[in-house]
Amino acid sequence: MRTKYHNPVLLKATLDGLNISPNGVYVDVTFGGGGHSRAILKQLNEEGRLLGFDQDLDASDNLIDDPRFEFIASNFSYLSQYLKYHHVDGVMGILADFGVSSHQFDTQERGFSIRAEGRLDMRMNQSQDLNAHYVINKYTESDLMRIFFQYGELKNSKAIARAIVSKRDKSDINTTLDLINIVNPLIPKKFEKKILAQLFQAIRIEVNDELEIIKLFLKQAKEILLPGGRLVCISYHSLEDRLVKRYFQTGSFEGELKKDFYGNPIKPLKKIGKLIIPSAQEINENRRARSAKLRIAEKI
Ligand SMILES: C[S@@+](CC[C@H](N)C(=O)[O-])C[C@H]1O[C@@H](n2cnc3c(N)ncnc32)[C@H](O)[C@@H]1O
Repeated sequence: MRTKYHNPVLLKATLDGLNISPNGVYVDVTFGGGGHSRAILKQLNEEGRLLGFDQDLDASDNLIDDPRFEFIASNFSYLSQYLKYHHVDGVMGILADFGVSSHQFDTQERGFSIRAEGRLDMRMNQSQDLNAHYVINKYTESDLMRIFFQYGELKNSKAIARAIVSKRDKSDINTTLDLINIVNPLIPKKFEKKILAQLFQAIRIEVNDELEIIKLFLKQAKEILLPGGRLVCISYHSLEDRLVKRYFQTGSFEGELKKDFYGNPIKPLKKIGKLIIPSAQEINENRRARSAKLRIAEKI
């Protein structure tokens, strides 16, 4: 299935991982172009139901005209609240395909891409206040250094933060190209694309508070799933994947197995199968799939 908005990644593995019960209730918390959602709906019967979340209103251009489908224009950190509002007590499966869509990357003025000049924006939800312009122009040098180091895993985060602060003392940094021009002299040409991608990733994570929101989501997902229900998560960088992996393995984000009074592990989810990555053929057909990592867990 191909859409111009976004090509769904690891589609077959996602459907297999969800192990769909045709009359179950499912949630796609990252609706995007609706590629995964459409395929899920095909496996549901007339009693089945699918709720799709997306915080980017652009995704609502892709809505599915089907009485079994409901779109919720919200951040998935409000998953439990919205399910309650829609009278859903428990679900048989949840899909989270984290990160940004191809549409968001390719829309130049949204500023997600290192390949095209755009405003420093990077908000997935275009009505939120915090954007990349604020982060780059107003954050302290030490906060910039921290986010570049923690979220971009950049070794020269200190030098990059210092260069940004020294430039913005003269005039605001407004576009992605302005930012790239400041950083480029500090990085080896050979690794330019990689380092810039890491830098943009760091700013995007900060603007959208991506890691804290994944934690909120995972905690709610575990409560909402019915016994035997499946959670499928597709991550695109190691910081996301680490949270999912640890949570599936141990029920904590630190990777420590919690135990009850009698020493029995408290583990609401059980990991199903091994890590799944796209085939060479899928990566060939869809470059955006190249960093995808899919993990499956089941509610005990
Ligand atoms: C990788 S795309 C999903 C593509 C989708 N699976 C498809 O087949 O088209 C991720 C989508 O999730 C949305 N998103 C990311 N984080 C979100 C969050 N915290 N709450 C709601 N939507 C979010 C983005 O706006 C984007 O549209």
